[in-house]
Amino acid sequence: PPPATPPSSPFPSPPATPPPSPSPGSTPGYPTPTPTVLATPPPVSPPTSPTPPPTLSPSPSPTPVYPSPTPTTPVPPPASTSTQPPPVTGLKVGYYNDKCPDAEKIVLDAVRNATAGVKAGLIRLFFHDCFVQGCDASVLLNKVAGKPEPEMLGIPNLSLRGFEVIEAAKKKIEEKCPGVVSCADIVAFAGRDASKLLSGYKINFSMPAGRYDGLVSLKDETLPNLPPPFANLTILTQMFAKKGLSQTDMVAPFRRAQHRPLALLLLP
Ligand code: HEM
Repeated sequence: PPPATPPSSPFPSPPATPPPSPSPGSTPGYPTPTPTVLATPPPVSPPTSPTPPPTLSPSPSPTPVYPSPTPTTPVPPPASTSTQPPPVTGLKVGYYNDKCPDAEKIVLDAVRNATAGVKAGLIRLFFHDCFVQGCDASVLLNKVAGKPEPEMLGIPNLSLRGFEVIEAAKKKIEEKCPGVVSCADIVAFAGRDASKLLSGYKINFSMPAGRYDGLVSLKDETLPNLPPPFANLTILTQMFAKKGLSQTDMVAPFRRAQHRPLALLLLP
């Protein structure tokens, strides 16, 4: 079985020695963290079998039914990008170079084996993970009897796909480097790799790593945080602004001024 603690790198500033466990409910870098409740007791190990629950299979998944949009009073978007938090500095490119040198390659190979559709799903998986509780793999947590339902059962997540790719990569990585690589980093690498492969290497960037796996996963936090398909520009702008992302971030895969890929801005 996999080891007790997920990643040994902290966020935002890595300590010299790994902490014993991730900090539940922390969403560093997010301006408006939501109250959190433990969905599961602190697990002995990070989630290693992010298998979608029975309701997600067999595919195709049922069409999610979103609640009707409530009339909203338009609110002007944030005046400028000055509300954006500064770029995250706690993570590190090449974080696993000395801890688990093959980690990124194992993920890349797993993503390579996926169909184009599932690759797209992996990009979305990262987005949906990051917008709820930060990029902490909380979207992978399965339902536990007697506990509140997890994120993956939230309406916006019912059509997520690619869980099996993360699971395959995690399994191989655990065989080589038990207890070192977090699921959160695997999801991030996989999203990056899917972008790279689907774009024919036009999108190609280094993904910093060192994320914790979260222990909090609540279905009820999905609808308030993930933009619904009927959202207008005002709502979308607001929802992205809450994550420190501008309108430019919302529509462009790269922010030209800084050559900073959106995926990097989604760091927790
Ligand atoms: C701006 C607000 C967004 C809304 C309202 C939105 C909504 C949606 C919806 C409704 C789907 C179809 C899901 C289904 O098949 O049932 C979808 C698919 C997808 N979205 Fe988004 N999305 C948004 C932003 C993003 C962002 C920022 C990314 C990437 C970082 C992204 C990546 C994807 C991908 C790759 C798919 C296809 C997934 C697949 O085929 O499995 N979306 N999105």
